[in-house]
Amino acid sequence: MIYLDNAATTYPKPKKVYDEVLASLKTYGGNPGRGSHSLSLSAAEKIYECRVSLSELFGLDAPERAVFTLNTTYAINTVIKGILHQGDHVLISDLEHNSVFRPIYRLACEGVIKYSVFPSFAGKPHTDEDILDGINSRINMKTRLVFCTHASNICSEILPIKKIGELCRKRGVIFAVDAAQSAGHHTIDMKAFCIDALCVPGHKGLYGPQGCGALLLGDGVTLNTLAEGGNGVSSLEGKMPELPPERYESGTLPTPAIAGLCEGIKEIRELGTAKIRSHEAALFRYARSRLSEIDGIKIYAPDAEGSVLLFNSEKMPPDALGEHLNKLDICIRTGYHCAALAHKALGTQNSGAARISFGIYNTFEDIDTLCEALGRI
Ligand code: ALA
Repeated sequence: MIYLDNAATTYPKPKKVYDEVLASLKTYGGNPGRGSHSLSLSAAEKIYECRVSLSELFGLDAPERAVFTLNTTYAINTVIKGILHQGDHVLISDLEHNSVFRPIYRLACEGVIKYSVFPSFAGKPHTDEDILDGINSRINMKTRLVFCTHASNICSEILPIKKIGELCRKRGVIFAVDAAQSAGHHTIDMKAFCIDALCVPGHKGLYGPQGCGALLLGDGVTLNTLAEGGNGVSSLEGKMPELPPERYESGTLPTPAIAGLCEGIKEIRELGTAKIRSHEAALFRYARSRLSEIDGIKIYAPDAEGSVLLFNSEKMPPDALGEHLNKLDICIRTGYHCAALAHKALGTQNSGAARISFGIYNTFEDIDTLCEALGRI
């Protein structure tokens, strides 16, 4: 099987991830933070180890500010619903996934907030200066939050988050980043990039299992809670603890997913993001050149070289293409990729498109097999 759907979830995982998930279930299967017995204490230790890894990877001083969530979408919802108040204004980019757009849209429809979209790709790739001008000119007295993706999930476009962070800091606006497609692929340093809240998945570029994501909170950022409940801390109090991580973590944490994530992060740190990025960019360039040889294929955003390549064939709609490829044991994702704004920016809002996305285990031969299959189809 050829797996080219790593933007949805990476597959396979490093062997040590599988081993640690099993070990967590077998050897430290207690409820973390709930018992005074060794099974519970060792689970809590593993979870703390993962907070430390996350905070080191993303430039956060305090591991306690690395909060576990169900996935990136829950981390994003926690920020949006925990920060915004009646009358606030928010800025998002034109490349957002629905995980950012839908919670914002709902609050806007309910009359709680207003939002504006700043251009980063619409019609053509924009220069960093254009993007920054677009943000700067849209910030008003009511703007409380700029929330944007770091890397698009439908093409390899990257937003200049360090420059955006510096601008937000200068303008006194909170800056949050959706790193669903960039964590593990790109270096992100929350402090150096002036990021107040970073939302990351466990199961994509960090090679953990599905079942957990993380919200990393910069110094001085306190949110209202999205969910309340028990977490083994201040049990006699009716209100949630004031301090992270427990303030934002209710109910039993997914120890197996977090244990696996810990090993995934180790793998990424051993390889280094520069090496990962260069492997993915080389695969992108090779795929772009091989796909261009096939009659009727159009590639979108072809100049951004990274882990995601979007294309269409004028001979067959993307969903049918995906079904044919699946019969040949080639996995890709087609359609709209939960990203209406981004498809509009790329001009594929009426057709959808086919997406291939690379991970550390993909090879040039995978692309040869894909292109031969596409040629035959
Ligand atoms: N957001 C993920 C994707 O792009 C699921 O496929």
